[in-house]
Amino acid sequence: MHGGFFIFLNLSLQVTQLLTEAKAGGPLNVQGNSSSPHATGGSTLPSMFPAGSAPPLSPRSSSGSPRIMKQRIGPSHLGSPLKVVSEPVKEVIPQFYFLHGRPPPNELKDQCLFRINQFFSGNSDGLQMHEFKSVAKDICKLPSFFSTSLFKKIDANSTGFVTRDTFVDYWVTGNMLTMDIATQIYSILKQPDLKYLTQDDFKPVLRELLATHPGLEFLQSTQEFQERYGLFSSYNQPFLDTISETVIYRIFYYINRSGNGHLTLRELKRGNLIDAMQHADEEEDINKVLRYFSYEHFYVIYCKFWELDTDHDFLIDKENLIRYGNHALTYRIVDRIFSQVARKFTSQVEGKMGYQDFVYFILSEEDKTSEPSLEFWFKCIDLDGNGVLTRNELNFFYEEQLHRMECMAQEPVLFEDILCQIIDMIGPENESYITLHDLKGCKLSGSVFNILFNLNKFMAFETRDPFLIRQERENPTLTEWDRFAHREYIRLSMEEDVEDASNGSAEVWDESLEAPF
Ligand SMILES: *[C@@H]1O[C@H](CO)[C@@H](O)[C@H](O)[C@H]1NC(C)=O
Ligand SMILES: *[C@@H]1O[C@H](CO)[C@@H](O)[C@H](O)[C@H]1NC(C)=O
Ligand SMILES: *[C@@H]1O[C@H](CO)[C@@H](O)[C@H](O)[C@H]1NC(C)=O
Ligand SMILES: *[C@@H]1O[C@H](CO)[C@@H](O)[C@H](O)[C@H]1NC(C)=O
Ligand SMILES: *[C@@H]1O[C@H](CO)[C@@H](O)[C@H](O)[C@H]1NC(C)=O
Repeated sequence: MHGGFFIFLNLSLQVTQLLTEAKAGGPLNVQGNSSSPHATGGSTLPSMFPAGSAPPLSPRSSSGSPRIMKQRIGPSHLGSPLKVVSEPVKEVIPQFYFLHGRPPPNELKDQCLFRINQFFSGNSDGLQMHEFKSVAKDICKLPSFFSTSLFKKIDANSTGFVTRDTFVDYWVTGNMLTMDIATQIYSILKQPDLKYLTQDDFKPVLRELLATHPGLEFLQSTQEFQERYGLFSSYNQPFLDTISETVIYRIFYYINRSGNGHLTLRELKRGNLIDAMQHADEEEDINKVLRYFSYEHFYVIYCKFWELDTDHDFLIDKENLIRYGNHALTYRIVDRIFSQVARKFTSQVEGKMGYQDFVYFILSEEDKTSEPSLEFWFKCIDLDGNGVLTRNELNFFYEEQLHRMECMAQEPVLFEDILCQIIDMIGPENESYITLHDLKGCKLSGSVFNILFNLNKFMAFETRDPFLIRQERENPTLTEWDRFAHREYIRLSMEEDVEDASNGSAEVWDESLEAPF
């Protein structure tokens, strides 16, 4: 039965991919046959968004389906003319493990200089920005989407050229060569007078990633399409900016959780961001880069926000949020979120959550095993802010769940029983209260929070939802977030597909809905 379901899914996703392309006005790249009735495009209506204006689905959607975008036309523009020269000596320069600032061992330095000379030979004026990709990648061993930032850092006077000597000054004499990659990245991105990275510091590299990553080429054609038809964002923000902001919010969510928007070198070294960046650079399928960069993950977050933001002012209020996940959350927890005790909103609009706040919320809600999530929910439940969760606090939140179960004619589980269950699950050091430390040491902490304020997940947990268990068993390395995003992406793309197949007529649409893009 599941087999059939997945076959259907694959088919469905393929159709969706074709549709996306058709909508994007690109050539239909069909392996089988192009007699698809959808090929006319234009008149098809996706579910949530008016025709042609939905955020584009990613061309690849499951590992089983063929990657249409793979057959690109013409040579990739990523290739630099210098590439040929650079092919062989890849492994010579060992990268890290030197103390910050130590002068390079002569051997390493000589090898690097040799390579630099190769690159710059025959370019006495220096290299231009578009020629810098392989310098970033092959000499500096940085992700290739750092090339513009690196270039601009060195060409501080904006001459449009970087000569061999300026490059050597910066990279070798300036000891960048011997720094570990986190420190290199940190100093390339950082503003000179600050001791941390801000969110804006990441924008140039993300812009370059979005513009050049082979797995995101479809975005370029989509954007042209949108511009041609005058479909601009009603959120007054270009689509690509929304994608890079989402990535940045995710990075800051996991790596600096203070919410002050400052990321220190220490945090950068400790987190997994550098690995994720290198992965994104090497992996042609951006959706395989689950940490931060996946387009599908962006798509899910964005669509969820759009679904809740009914008046499309790019803000969400309590009434909107209560509808999240099929009314999964209790009023009490939503009140606590909006009290902003656990985390202050960045929206600067009284009583409303902005997109960044929503990203923070959805990551916390859908990945309750992560540390930032545990910290967030702990603060929400800790009503008196004394650093421990007591019986009364647990009861306050559970009461509403109990009431909802009664309303649904579910057999209610009494608080006393639930409390025992929670204590069993957490095994706190002192049974009369629960600390954050107790929760961090326990795999079931997320489920405890679901018991307290998310009725749907509580039910799924109590009934040991076989679909979830199966999903978990099949992909034990995925996080709760990854699984959620995967399920939702499939659901959202099928939804579009169904709407398309039903020939979506105007009445599907509430006229008041405006195009997000
Ligand atoms: C497309 O259909 C035609 C005729 O139906 C067939 O001859 C051809 O082999 C098909 N192409 C592919 C790639 O399957
Ligand atoms: C930039 O220009 C200033 C003044 O013309 C000069 O002193 C400085 O060395 C230049 N910097 C670089 C990196 O070329
Ligand atoms: C986030 O950054 C601030 C300021 O740089 C720092 O004080 C805080 O400890 C960081 N948060 C985490 C979780 O490391
Ligand atoms: C647990 O905490 C309570 C209240 O703070 C305290 O009275 C009790 O002695 C503690 N029990 C243990 C075993 O530490
Ligand atoms: C789609 O619309 C066309 C013309 O409006 C109609 O002939 C066709 O039956 C519709 N298809 C579906 C699947 O509803």
